[in-house]
Amino acid sequence: MQFELQHTDPKSNARAGVITTDHGTIETPIFMPVGTAGSVKAVHQRELKEDIKAQIILGNTYHLYLRPGLNIIEKAGGLHKFNGWDRPILTDSGGYQVFSLSDNRKLKEDGAHFRSHIDGSKHLFTPENVVDIQRIIGADIIMAFDECTPGTADYDYAKQSMELTHRWLVRGLAHFDETEPKYGYSQAYFPIVQGCVYPELRKQSAEFIAAQNREGNAIGGLAVGEPTDKMYEMIEVVNEILPKDRPRYLMGVGTPANILEGIERGVDMFDCVMPTRNGRNGMLFTSQGIMNMKNKKWKDDFSPIDPAGTSYVDSFYSKAYLRHLFHSQEFLAMQIASIHNLAFYLWLAGEARKHIIAGDFSSWKPQMVRQVSQRL
Ligand code: GUN
Repeated sequence: MQFELQHTDPKSNARAGVITTDHGTIETPIFMPVGTAGSVKAVHQRELKEDIKAQIILGNTYHLYLRPGLNIIEKAGGLHKFNGWDRPILTDSGGYQVFSLSDNRKLKEDGAHFRSHIDGSKHLFTPENVVDIQRIIGADIIMAFDECTPGTADYDYAKQSMELTHRWLVRGLAHFDETEPKYGYSQAYFPIVQGCVYPELRKQSAEFIAAQNREGNAIGGLAVGEPTDKMYEMIEVVNEILPKDRPRYLMGVGTPANILEGIERGVDMFDCVMPTRNGRNGMLFTSQGIMNMKNKKWKDDFSPIDPAGTSYVDSFYSKAYLRHLFHSQEFLAMQIASIHNLAFYLWLAGEARKHIIAGDFSSWKPQMVRQVSQRL
């Protein structure tokens, strides 16, 4: 994997670059749709490519390991072959999901002991075996095994948690470096900065992560219960330290405004379930603002979903029709909303990139933040 930094905004830390993987290139800043169980919910791969213009998608170690299981994925020849997505894939390492989904989880020095949320079976994730799992899945970008410290943790807990993440990182990296990709293309390993809302810990963590000298770096433990201004402050502290010539990935963030604020602070890659999860519940993110499609207001509004939208659903369907689909609990409602929201997130990151390259990102961004945050 390679990263070429193409432009840096003169008035902020926003950057435009290109990541090259063996499955193709990714223009940054980029939003990565979440395909937890090997599918971006309610969206075909063809729509992902042609309408949404996704350049990379996520998969999840926790989900894919539990179902369909590694035997099936290996037999298929890796996740790209299994799900038909031939562009880059990044997999999250599973630690975050063990904590949000599994039953009876326990963190120990060796790893995370947990029971499957599907059938209650017992499992252990270690920094080493999550490398093996992600090698078998065949992700282009493998994430380190970490503890995502809750945003409300006290200093002592946050410190201990960060130190555990660092010890796990050393073990995971050693194992990554002594193992090989399975399918003939290369895989990169991104370490993850933790440290909760404590600048001192974030600094220590960023220094530790930067010293590993990997192809890219991630910032975790944000948008997990801390105030939004703390999140922005932590991004600033960390990006002062993370190397400028490597991509920076902010995990699990966020709203359209969060993404623009992250870009301004030097983040290159984002993922979040918001466009798909909130979309399935009737929330549409558009260039004009945020709409609740179930609202009465749209009952007889036959104008296009988003006249400025970039995907075909935006002009093909009306607001009134989409509202009707949500009220009738039609599957098509979820499909249309997911395609629209993802296309919008990709468009937003693409526009930010254009403005960084044109040199006017700093004047474009504040009015865009206001526009995309309005409630319609
Ligand atoms: N997704 C959102 N936040 C995190 C995090 O801190 N760690 C991991 N592994 N995944 C995340």
